[in-house]
Amino acid sequence: MNLGFYDSGIGGLITLKKLMDDVGTFDFVYLGDKANFPYGEKDEETLLMIARKCINFLKDKESDAVIIACNTISTTVFKHLEKFYDFPIIPITDWIKSYRINGNVKLLGTPNTVNSSFYQRYMKCEGIPDPNLANFVEKGIWDGEVEEYLEGILPTGEYALVLACTHYSVLNGVIGKLRPEVRIIDISDMFVEHLKSVIDFSKINRGNSSTIYFTSKDDNLMKMVDKLGLSGMADVEFIDPL
Ligand code: DGL
Repeated sequence: MNLGFYDSGIGGLITLKKLMDDVGTFDFVYLGDKANFPYGEKDEETLLMIARKCINFLKDKESDAVIIACNTISTTVFKHLEKFYDFPIIPITDWIKSYRINGNVKLLGTPNTVNSSFYQRYMKCEGIPDPNLANFVEKGIWDGEVEEYLEGILPTGEYALVLACTHYSVLNGVIGKLRPEVRIIDISDMFVEHLKSVIDFSKINRGNSSTIYFTSKDDNLMKMVDKLGLSGMADVEFIDPL
């Protein structure tokens, strides 16, 4: 079985790395739709068109299942996507029906994710829509300047903070330092646990032939792949926008 992963940039790679740290290295095809990054404020019609092209691409690369490693797509247009495909498409939000998060909860995500009200259907939470954080992460700014930015947007006090964007996982440590009283809930961790219960990883190919595709060329992306500990695990190819 061959797994495809899709996000607007490097966010889904962070989730993928977490998954492989848990279940062991496996073959994958990854598509980072960098040409259309960021997705956080695009309208639904555009997102649906983009997502279909990206999933079709992963299908052509012989993926047997596609993981939508992007909250923005998962919380907005995923509901319209499934009908187009005859193989499993698994959204990063798939864990949400089996876990409950209670108490004082704040939801940090892109404007599209927070405004979709998707998470709010499953938990009582106050949204912190943010148009900039994913961009910091995509540029490789994982501390320093982003710390100052986070200081300005994160409320003080005790609460649970749901990191509802796959890019944010690398900010976990910085947020913990800034707000030690906050309980951080990284949805990528929830998803990895969930995925292990829906996919039999003994059936996934492990032949050392993985490829990461990006839909635009940017030298910084190679640095990010390296920073995530993924260089050597996959070839990186820059392709034309889909
Ligand atoms: N990584 C994505 C998410 O989980 C999208 C970030 C963006 O493109 O704005 O929402």
